[in-house]
Parts: sequence; C-alpha cells; structure tokens
Amino acid sequence: MAKSVRKKNKKVVLAYSGGLDTSCCVRWLKDRGWDVVCFMADLGQALDVEIARKRAKAAGATKLYVKNLRKEFIEDFIWPTLKAGAVYEGKYYLATALGRPLIGKYLVEVAHKEGAVAVAHGCTGKGNDQVRIELAVRMLDPKLKIIAPVREWEFRSREEEVDYCRLHGIPIDVSKKKVYSIDENLWGVSIECGILEDPYAEPPKDAFQITKDPAEVRKSPTYVEIEFRKGIPVALNGKRLSGESLIKELNKLGGEYGVGRIDMVEDRLVGIKSREVYEAPAGHILYLAHRELEMLVLDRDTLFFKDNMANRFAQLVYYGLWYSPLRRAMSAFVDVTQERVSGVVRLKIGPGWVQVVGRKSPYTRYKKSLASYDESDTFDHSAAEGFIKLWGLPFEG
Ligand code: ARG
Repeated sequence: MAKSVRKKNKKVVLAYSGGLDTSCCVRWLKDRGWDVVCFMADLGQALDVEIARKRAKAAGATKLYVKNLRKEFIEDFIWPTLKAGAVYEGKYYLATALGRPLIGKYLVEVAHKEGAVAVAHGCTGKGNDQVRIELAVRMLDPKLKIIAPVREWEFRSREEEVDYCRLHGIPIDVSKKKVYSIDENLWGVSIECGILEDPYAEPPKDAFQITKDPAEVRKSPTYVEIEFRKGIPVALNGKRLSGESLIKELNKLGGEYGVGRIDMVEDRLVGIKSREVYEAPAGHILYLAHRELEMLVLDRDTLFFKDNMANRFAQLVYYGLWYSPLRRAMSAFVDVTQERVSGVVRLKIGPGWVQVVGRKSPYTRYKKSLASYDESDTFDHSAAEGFIKLWGLPFEG
C-alpha cells in the first residue's frame, strides 16, 4: 500500500488539456478541498507543455504529468479500428472516441501511482466523452470516485469562466475569440459549436484546421503507394515508416489536397443529434486502401461477415465500450481475417478526392486464368449449366 493512501486522502487526478475549462476545473476542485494532480495525454495534438504547466500551477495543481501515448494510441486503438473497417454512421473515423478510453486508462494508472481516491474530467453532461472516460475508469477500477466539475458548476458561459480565471490569477489567453469547440489528435480533428450548430450552414473556412479547401487546391494529382502487413500500414511509397510518421505524412499530403473533410449530423449516445465537422485525411486514405486490399485477398464470406460486423464495432467504440468483452472478441476475429491482408495499394489523389488505381498481394485471390476473357481462360464453362440448375432448384415454381 502506498503511504499516501493511509492518511485521510483527498487527492484527485484530473484529465487536463491546458485549456480554459480544465484550468477552471483545477481551481474549482482545489476550492472544494481536493489536492489536484493533472494528467495530460499526448495523443499527437498541438501541445504547449510550458503554457499548460504554468496554468496548471497557477490554478493550484500540485503536479502535472504529461505522457506521450502516441504509439499506444496508434497500435492498440487506431490500427484495430482500421482493421475492423469501423466507421460510425458511415462517416466518422472515430478520432475523438478512440482517444477517450486511453485517457481513462491512464487516469486510473496515475491515480494508483499517486494514491488518489478520485479522478476528474472536464467533459460536459451532454456529450459522449464523459461516457467514454467514465466507463473506461469504471471498467478498470470501479472503486475510484469520478468527479465532473463542468456538470456541476455554476458557470453559464465562457465569459464567466474567463472572469473566474482572472479573479484567481490563472493566465488564460483571451485575445483570440474562441468560435468552435475543437478536439484534436493524430487521427483527426473534431469541430463543433458556433455557426456549425445550424446544420444547413456551410462550414466557414476557419472551421478547418488541417485541410485546404479542395476548391482552392492548385496541384495536379499525385500517386501514393501504401503497403500493409497483416492489415497494418507499414510503408509509404516504398519507404518503411513508423505508424506515427505514416499517419503524419498522409495527414499532410491529404490535407494539402483537401482530402478527408467530413460534414455530418450524428447521433450522440445521450440521444441528441449534433452537427459535426471532421478532418481525417490519413484516416480517409487508409480506410480506402485497407478495404481495397481486403477485397483482393479475402474470400467473399469473410468479407461479407466482416462488413456486417464493422458497424457494430464502430458503435461500441462510439458508445465508450472499448474495453467490453464484445469489442475484444470482435478484434480477435478481425485479427484472424488480417493474416492475409498484406500487399500494396496504389492510389491517385487529387483536389478533394482519392481513387484506388491498383492493388497487389502475395495472398491475392484474383486468378487471371479464371477471370480472363482471352485465350488464357481456364474456367470450366460447361460446369456453369449444372451449377445454375442446382442453385435455382429450391426456387423453381
Ligand atoms: N462528436 C464527436 C464524438 O463524440 C466529437 C466530440 C468532440 N469533442 C469536442 N470537445 N469537440 O466523438
């Protein structure tokens, strides 16, 4: 037992972003007698640790942990979801949803290390993120108390939070007016609020963070070759890359071509519809390429079964059930299907679009001798007649 657990303990570990909400959370918790330890997950978002450190300290935190979780995020969360082909409501590549259970996992880990009895987060009561973080925490350590200050506190607007920070000497940059609520990581950017709350209003230019407007791209199309090993992308244009470099390069390339912008109205877990704008250039390109390779190497029954499951997988991720037995069992199934998913997919990328132009694999199920209509054809045409007779037998009227 850690020593700190024995004394009367009121230590809490807060998932800290360095922004306005979570900075207010620090002070708010401290005012209620908590000893606040901040935890910052580095999932590849733009991150200014020095500013965050200053803010956390000024707000009254005793410590700030910053942990680089990028590799784990990619290998244990992003790749399994890509391999499953899971896309929520047919459009969302789940960047935010995938980050939350990982944050939850480390909140628990830091809480154990620090001997804390509670964890906290800055999510609102209307969103999915509170569910994802809290479910992860409860599945990993149900004894930890969970505090969600934003669901409880008295502030009704951003201005009131800014005033609270001023009052308590927490340095907050209010020079640029915040128009959107943005969540960002390696796998994509999620943008909501402001004018986007009108589902008929076209997203203004300033809503987009990492992609160019396709209408303004002045580049001729380019080609990219992506190599997969067992369903995981491992090389770009013949160059072996780490997952992180590969995703970053595709985000950059796709972003320059205005690829991977998504505008949707989605169903939140809490029952409301919300308008969301996403940017996921790498995700968009990799899903397309991965699926194409599967179509070359998987038999039709496996493909069909896997496709049916993909929706359910996406739903589990979106609903915060990453650590559920069902999600883990589905991943085990998916991994078996990926044994053959090795090979190269060639894509052509232009302003706002990506096209598959070629695919090859040592495990290909494509047989030219069967598919061909020229003299190399080895397909037994005479067998077709009998096959059709029996196939249709049950339905003959
Ligand atoms: N609607 C998306 C989801 O539930 C994105 C949430 C983004 N959060 C944010 N603070 N902007 O996964």
